[in-house]
Amino acid sequence: MLLDNALLLSLLPAAVVVGFSTGEETTANVCQDFQIPVNITSTRFLLNIEIEDNWDAVDSIFNATRRDTLTTFQPVTGNITVAARYNIGATFCTPELGGKKSETVLLLTHGSMQGREFVPYWNPTFNGSDRYNFVQHALNTGYSVFLYDRIGNGQSSRPDPISEVQYQPQVEILSTLANLVKDKQSPYTLGVKVNKIVHVGHSFGSFIVLSSTINSPVGLIDGVILTGFSGVFTWLGLFTTGGQARVAALSQPSKWGSLLHGYLTPVDIYALSYGGFKSPYFDHDVAQSLFDQQYPVAIGEQLTAGTTVLNLSAIQVPVQVGSHPVSELNFSTLAMVVGS
Ligand SMILES: *[C@@H]1O[C@H](CO)[C@@H](O)[C@H](O)[C@H]1NC(C)=O
Ligand SMILES: *[C@@H]1O[C@H](CO)[C@@H](O)[C@H](O)[C@H]1NC(C)=O
Ligand SMILES: *[C@@H]1O[C@H](CO)[C@@H](O)[C@H](O)[C@H]1NC(C)=O
Ligand SMILES: *[C@@H]1O[C@H](CO)[C@@H](O)[C@H](O)[C@H]1NC(C)=O
Ligand SMILES: *[C@@H]1O[C@H](CO)[C@@H](O)[C@H](O)[C@H]1NC(C)=O
Ligand SMILES: *[C@@H]1O[C@H](CO)[C@@H](O)[C@H](O)[C@H]1NC(C)=O
Repeated sequence: MLLDNALLLSLLPAAVVVGFSTGEETTANVCQDFQIPVNITSTRFLLNIEIEDNWDAVDSIFNATRRDTLTTFQPVTGNITVAARYNIGATFCTPELGGKKSETVLLLTHGSMQGREFVPYWNPTFNGSDRYNFVQHALNTGYSVFLYDRIGNGQSSRPDPISEVQYQPQVEILSTLANLVKDKQSPYTLGVKVNKIVHVGHSFGSFIVLSSTINSPVGLIDGVILTGFSGVFTWLGLFTTGGQARVAALSQPSKWGSLLHGYLTPVDIYALSYGGFKSPYFDHDVAQSLFDQQYPVAIGEQLTAGTTVLNLSAIQVPVQVGSHPVSELNFSTLAMVVGS
């Protein structure tokens, strides 16, 4: 069942956004991009999945969502523990005026199809998106922000989408990054001595945040915000089939031709929209922006998400859960969560 649940999270585009009140002053904030080498040791699952072409992509989705999938679909054949090194594309931003709140970092973990930058929600660039901009709003409210591309996306390493881009390595990478951000000598925080970290996850990113928080030593993480996430997976099968996955390299050879065939993408803008937009409550331009800027999804991370049992009672820090898109986050609530 969890495997199915995991797959459901797969092709979730950002949900429809509802903006903050406008009229805030945009101050000069300081941002820097980094390429961070990260060494991890993690479990990897052996998956008996092979995707050559779109027939395989469709059959995989069929297998993962069929009525009797719980008993007929068991792609995990074993596991190994592997050490690996990845490059992580990341950005740290802090308000120019600094202040106490800036020592609190919002550590953002994006969902499927997204990256840290070219996304319709963290830091959108489409016309009229200013009022939906989470990063700018966080900075203007005084918080620092750390964004990164999960492996398989953006400027981070793009290893094998079946054997390597899996849930457990993504969790280990996030835990490593949290330690790097909170290190008082961190080369990645522009000199800010970080004393609080609040994880902010969206969709599949929320799922990764939960596992990383559970594994973290007491004191490393100070709060957790899970967006695009309800913990209810009843409709994940609809969501997954609705995405109509195709092999990214075959869909857009000029853009994704070099990607291995386990990287998948929705067949068209309408399949993408099905998972996250409800007519008539969104601008088609927003869906277009997401479609144009999406990153293909590695099927390995979807199939392995359900393999970890999350012990939620092990979480000792405040958690805000909502299915709201990130742009709707209430920053007064955030201040209460982190006690600042
Ligand atoms: C990461 O691993 C590489 C070898 O793969 C090693 O040279 C480097 O020192 C390691 N870095 C850390 C921070 O452990
Ligand atoms: C789907 O499952 C069947 C077994 O039920 C298997 O033979 C087939 O290879 C699977 N398809 C893919 C693409 O993995
Ligand atoms: C990995 O495989 C071992 C041996 O088959 C099994 O005991 C263990 O539970 C597996 N680990 C995970 C995380 O599934
Ligand atoms: C941006 O949106 C505004 C308001 O809808 C419109 O007037 C303007 O022409 C748009 N600009 C571009 C470049 O599309
Ligand atoms: C879950 O976490 C709680 C709190 O740390 C602990 O008491 C309990 O034993 C854990 N349960 C499992 C199954 O690990
Ligand atoms: C934000 O949260 C605060 C504290 O719970 C509440 O008073 C306020 O009404 C909320 N604002 C919005 C726009 O929901």
